[in-house]
Amino acid sequence: MAKIYRDGDVDMQILNGRKIGIVGYGNQGRAQALNIKDSGFAPIVANRDDQYREKAIKDGFEVRSISEVAREADVILFLIPDEVQPQVYDEQIRPYLNTGDIVCFASGYNVYYGTIKPPEGVGIIMVAPRMIGRAVRDLYKKGLGFPCLVACEKDKDGRFMLIALALAKAIGATRFGAFDSSFKEEAIIDLFAEQMLWPGIIKLCLLYFEKLTENGCDPEIVTTELYLSGEFVEIAKAMIVSGFFGQLKLHSQTSQYGQLSRADRMAPPELLNRVDEVIDEISSGKFHAEWVKEQKDGKPKMRKLWQQALEHPLSESEAKLETLRRIIAESYEGPD
Ligand code: NAI
Repeated sequence: MAKIYRDGDVDMQILNGRKIGIVGYGNQGRAQALNIKDSGFAPIVANRDDQYREKAIKDGFEVRSISEVAREADVILFLIPDEVQPQVYDEQIRPYLNTGDIVCFASGYNVYYGTIKPPEGVGIIMVAPRMIGRAVRDLYKKGLGFPCLVACEKDKDGRFMLIALALAKAIGATRFGAFDSSFKEEAIIDLFAEQMLWPGIIKLCLLYFEKLTENGCDPEIVTTELYLSGEFVEIAKAMIVSGFFGQLKLHSQTSQYGQLSRADRMAPPELLNRVDEVIDEISSGKFHAEWVKEQKDGKPKMRKLWQQALEHPLSESEAKLETLRRIIAESYEGPD
């Protein structure tokens, strides 16, 4: 089992006297900057000239350019989208790094695929929350934590890991637990969930929508059943509270029997071959190469896929249920 570090295992003093720079003020950047500030540090924020910069100024940060922060900071949290990181790193960060500086990533992607290689003498660490940015902030404010994965490269004396853990504590993650991981493991697990787990749910919902409506069921009732009621959010919560299988007891006996006796049908051998295929595409870099090419070509396939998704009859049903959707959505969204 991976080592899990909690608050009591970590000393944040190692960050004292080190200037912490946050590059990017989006989902993770804003949440991490505010949490680090509330943990008693004075991070400096860098952002290009866009609406995120305005947000950071509104939150009370004096926002600088990325190269300025790269020059000034000793520890740089690199919190802009993975696909733009290599170019921004090459042009605005790398030229200003000094020996002993540390660059911290919130995902393993660019380090695993070798698209960012800090120079000799510069440390690279990872503090990757397993939580969306908004919840990183909300949980912190409630005094709660969230899981994160930590890793470091070329850690000769263990100092980089101590810094990664101190940052994990400063953002509130070790209140729950920081798992000792690696850039590779984070990249594989993260991409796997994105390419098998979530699309599996999406594809099945679309297929069931098509089949049930073909069989005479009302499209809006089917849409409500499949996701809009929020029942599957409640089931996911019950999995945490009562256990993955324990939550089954909240369902009727008929439902329990139906679920347990039919589960194997959902994983035919062809699907298992697909799982192997996806893991291979991710770990070999085949998916990464395809995505780099798609971006270079101006994302034509991505546009087409989006168009197809929005044209699906389920989107039409969702639009008809807009008022109901808003009522349920409001019960989830707390104040920003
Ligand atoms: P985001 O999409 O919210 O990033 C927006 C920020 O990036 C803004 O500050 C924007 O000004 C800046 N930005 C965008 N394009 C830029 C460019 N070309 N040049 C300079 N700045 C640019 O990013 P997000 O989702 O916060 O992701 C940041 C990192 O955190 C990534 O490594 C991601 O994998 C990781 N991560 C994200 C999670 C999430 O909640 N979205 C969860 C866990 C990890």
